[in-house]
Amino acid sequence: MNLNLPLAEWELGVKIPFLPQQASTFAGEIDTLYFVLWALTLFFSALVGFLILFFVIRYKKGSNVSRANLVHTSHSLELAWSIIPLFLGLIIFAWGAKLYADVYKVPSNAKEVFVIGKQWMWHLQHSNGIRENNELHVPIGQPVKLTMISQDTIHSFFVPDFRIKRDVLPGRYTTVWFQATKPGRYHLFCAEYCGMQHSLMGGWVYVMEPKDFEKWQNSNGQKPGDASMNTPTARQSLSEQGAEIYQSVGCANCHAPQDNRRGPSLYAIYGKKRQFVDGRTEIADRAYIRESILKPGEKITAGYENIMPVYDGQLTEEQVNALIAYIKSLGTTNEPKMPGSELDNNGKPISTDGGKSNMGGTPGATTGPNSGNTRGTDSTASPNTKNSADTQSIQGDVRGTSPGSNSSGTMNR
Ligand code: CUA
Repeated sequence: MNLNLPLAEWELGVKIPFLPQQASTFAGEIDTLYFVLWALTLFFSALVGFLILFFVIRYKKGSNVSRANLVHTSHSLELAWSIIPLFLGLIIFAWGAKLYADVYKVPSNAKEVFVIGKQWMWHLQHSNGIRENNELHVPIGQPVKLTMISQDTIHSFFVPDFRIKRDVLPGRYTTVWFQATKPGRYHLFCAEYCGMQHSLMGGWVYVMEPKDFEKWQNSNGQKPGDASMNTPTARQSLSEQGAEIYQSVGCANCHAPQDNRRGPSLYAIYGKKRQFVDGRTEIADRAYIRESILKPGEKITAGYENIMPVYDGQLTEEQVNALIAYIKSLGTTNEPKMPGSELDNNGKPISTDGGKSNMGGTPGATTGPNSGNTRGTDSTASPNTKNSADTQSIQGDVRGTSPGSNSSGTMNR
């Protein structure tokens, strides 16, 4: 626990006691606005209070002061006390609106972390596959985007030292971002009453120098004596986890690399406009894909029937996140819906962006060692029985190259 109460230093060097320390790029600006609001409130309260007292005492019954020349109307006075507060209010409004917009506008180079709130813990997923509970490790000086959803009731993700707080809702993604400025450990809270152990639902955000963060990542988020979640030998990226779920849940039975009778291909649908049977359209963002996994009947893609089973209650939000990461990793172009862009046994797309750029007009050329299982959809749907040696080597390759492309390339929209 941080028992020595840190003093907040705001931009002009004024220290405001009792405020949490400032550990993100927002903190200084938000504190400055807060301080100005506070100062204005104090000033006008004092002014009005002083005038009331002054007049009460000066003009109390029987006091010996002149009551001649009573002023009934003073336009200049009334204009002054209308116009000055009006402008002060507008300035505060514009200032606050600007800060609000800044907090909502996630920089495009932000590193994305998925947050799942559930009674009564925070579960965090990094796109490179590292998972954490009630702890979040981030590097200093890099924007971090949190994409959040709740597994049950409403929670609220609150890090006072960063001055960020955003509700975490069941069934809907919310986002918030921050950029940490000081290495250290910062308290994370749930700020929405969510049941019996609400007050215990919290943890720590660890802000690290980029070097240390790199080290932490390379050890797969391992801490001494902690072998619970991330074993250094077998970490899969989020999209690799998704690929496995894609196979095990049976998505691949119907959603093959190419459209077929049972279902549309999920290749290159992320971020694309989808047309539904009832004529509506929607961009296939993460909210749409989540809905289409959990409640596929809500929006039926034009040309298909409502035959997909409902996965609501079958999949956790973690699994949905992994599936979305996988679907996102299937590329953003429509191009290689060719047998050659088939999934390998782990459902991993064999052709990558890198391959596409130099393969010219022959997408089939990227087939590589896995050309054996390119025919038909049912063979891809079969569980990982053969080719496990190939898969191992492919995964090995992928692990070497994909964390970069995952975090910087495909995870940014
Ligand atoms: Cu979760 Cu309060």
